[in-house]
Amino acid sequence: MLIKRLLYLVVFLAFLLASGCTIYFGKETFHTHESLAQTNHQFSYHFVLIPEEVDNEYWRLIEEGAREAATIYNVNLEYLGPKQADSDELLKTIDVAIAGKIDGILTQGMKDQEFISLLNKAVGKGIPVVTVDTDTPNSERTSYIGTDNYYAGFLAGKALIADTTGEQKVAIITGRFAAANQKLRVQGFMDAVEREKRIEIVDVQESNITKIGAVKTTHQLLMKHPEVTAFYGTSALDGIGIAQVVESKNINNLYILAFDTLPETLKLMEKGIIDATVVQYPKQMGYKAVEALFELKQGKEREEIKHTDTTVIHKQDLPFTQATFIGGRRP
Ligand code: BGC
Repeated sequence: MLIKRLLYLVVFLAFLLASGCTIYFGKETFHTHESLAQTNHQFSYHFVLIPEEVDNEYWRLIEEGAREAATIYNVNLEYLGPKQADSDELLKTIDVAIAGKIDGILTQGMKDQEFISLLNKAVGKGIPVVTVDTDTPNSERTSYIGTDNYYAGFLAGKALIADTTGEQKVAIITGRFAAANQKLRVQGFMDAVEREKRIEIVDVQESNITKIGAVKTTHQLLMKHPEVTAFYGTSALDGIGIAQVVESKNINNLYILAFDTLPETLKLMEKGIIDATVVQYPKQMGYKAVEALFELKQGKEREEIKHTDTTVIHKQDLPFTQATFIGGRRP
């Protein structure tokens, strides 16, 4: 009996400690910065942008766009989240932001129930949430700003059909099986090539959204499926990893379809190693997401979903900059 009571007491104390820590760190992380910032400058709002991975080059572009809008709208913007892709870490950061009574949250959407509950909790507490890059439509998130990921995958499939002739054995390297946008990009691609009897998808493996992961997976796929004629990489560093292996092994005649327009991807396209890439507009996403959150705070009506542009480019479309192809057309 005594042991049972003691056990309850320990569990209760642990719970108190965990809740206390969340609130304390929430206040430390968010409110200290705010008060410090306020000594010099009165911001209109305090928002946080929570990426899939803080130092990922692609997310740094979203941050850049978000910071541009934050300056224009006089917003104090924090950029915090997992060092390396980690769903639990992302959830923790959202929890801390809610405890810190942030004015608005911008984050990558996920499909886990825990994530949905947390978003709904934030919105329930009057904190608007804008999903960026990846949506969570079955949550109460206030808005989504980003690529139509299924459509982007579909465009990729159409590009493969248009760019190749004869039988194709395709290996897909996707960022993370757990990421909703990656699933949609694979599904859209599969649907686009479904009726094309000459095209067969031989395998789908993940890279954990790192270049090193993509390199390792490419080696494994080439060993397992020496018959592969084409690779499709569905996150920003996958195409670069695939190309690195193909280049180092001096393999010719492999078709490589990448995602995004990071400088290294464009260089590899220029060299003729990557054949095509799906363009996203991360800076535009970041900018529009902060703008949307600001307008929501001001009580303005906003469309729930705002898809940013998507298109596919080839070597002949170079040089390419993020501003060149607004709306999928050359200006
Ligand atoms: C995706 C992001 C992902 C990134 C990883 C991009 O293509 O849109 O969701 O975090 O690749 O490098």
